[in-house]
Amino acid sequence: MSVEIKNLNFIYSPKTPYEKKALDDITLTVEDGDFFGIIGHTGSGKSTLINHLNALTRTQPKYNKDAVLKVCGIDLMAKKPDLKGLREKVGMVFQYPEYQLFADTVAKDVAYGAKNLGLNDEETEKRVRDAIARVGLNYDEIAERSPFELSGGQKRRVAIAGVIVMRPSLLILDEPTAGLDPKGKKEILALVKELQKTCPTIIMVSHNMDEVAECCNKVGVLSNGKIMGVFTPDELFSKRALISSLGLELPTVTELSAFLAEKGIDVNPATLVERDLVESLEWFLNK
Ligand SMILES: Nc1ncnc2c1ncn2[C@@H]1O[C@H](COP(=O)(O)OP(=O)(O)OP(=O)(O)O)[C@@H](O)[C@H]1O
Ligand SMILES: [Mg+2]
Repeated sequence: MSVEIKNLNFIYSPKTPYEKKALDDITLTVEDGDFFGIIGHTGSGKSTLINHLNALTRTQPKYNKDAVLKVCGIDLMAKKPDLKGLREKVGMVFQYPEYQLFADTVAKDVAYGAKNLGLNDEETEKRVRDAIARVGLNYDEIAERSPFELSGGQKRRVAIAGVIVMRPSLLILDEPTAGLDPKGKKEILALVKELQKTCPTIIMVSHNMDEVAECCNKVGVLSNGKIMGVFTPDELFSKRALISSLGLELPTVTELSAFLAEKGIDVNPATLVERDLVESLEWFLNK
């Protein structure tokens, strides 16, 4: 099991007028090999939750008497949790990760995390070459360039390479396609799916339901700091009432296929991914 959470609470600014319960009795498990989506309206607690998983936000013992928080076997409710072990096992790609690029060459930037693991120069270079290839960039073309002169999509790839260079067993992505144009979004999404070969367990926060339907095998829905349920994409997107009551949307593909089916075109009205809708339409048009 990659993540085990039981009865986890978190309160910002407790006992002040600004007190805000951001996590309210969260119970959740992420199994090894899951591509786990986390969705929820803005302010529902998604970032607070994932920031607990790499101890960026520390647990509050006072409000968590019965809580369990174990990530990759590390007990984060312990008095002195193994934070070094945690940083080696959990890779975090923050929203807009390209803002955190800092070195004067791509190779140095990507190498930073590997060096922090204490790897020697030879192993570091091997890892850097591998990570750059895995994000779909050409090492020989890009290694000695400044990350700041790259395109937005390339910068994001470099930033992701800087995380997977550590070969984390759990990879957490916060809105990996936010702010990119449609082509950039598609490319990063394809890359994220490929990443599961490198990091078998992935947690992805997303506002984009097409991405969630396309990538995830499970989806946890947050609302007002509470878990409303964990579903497969099929289950989730058949619950139209739940989706709209939470202010969320259906995947565009599902909206479109429902519309086409209503107009008498022979497609499954609950189609979740673009590829399946395209196939149905091709079949329909060739009939
Ligand atoms: N540093 C903070 N101090 C006080 N309240 C905070 C702080 N950070 C977040 N909150 C509040 O906690 C709640 C959960 O915030 P969080 O950032 O986890 O939500 P989110 O689901 O990630 O939202 P978004 O989709 O906008 O990123 C919100 O009501 C937010 O206003
Ligand atoms: Mg957030």
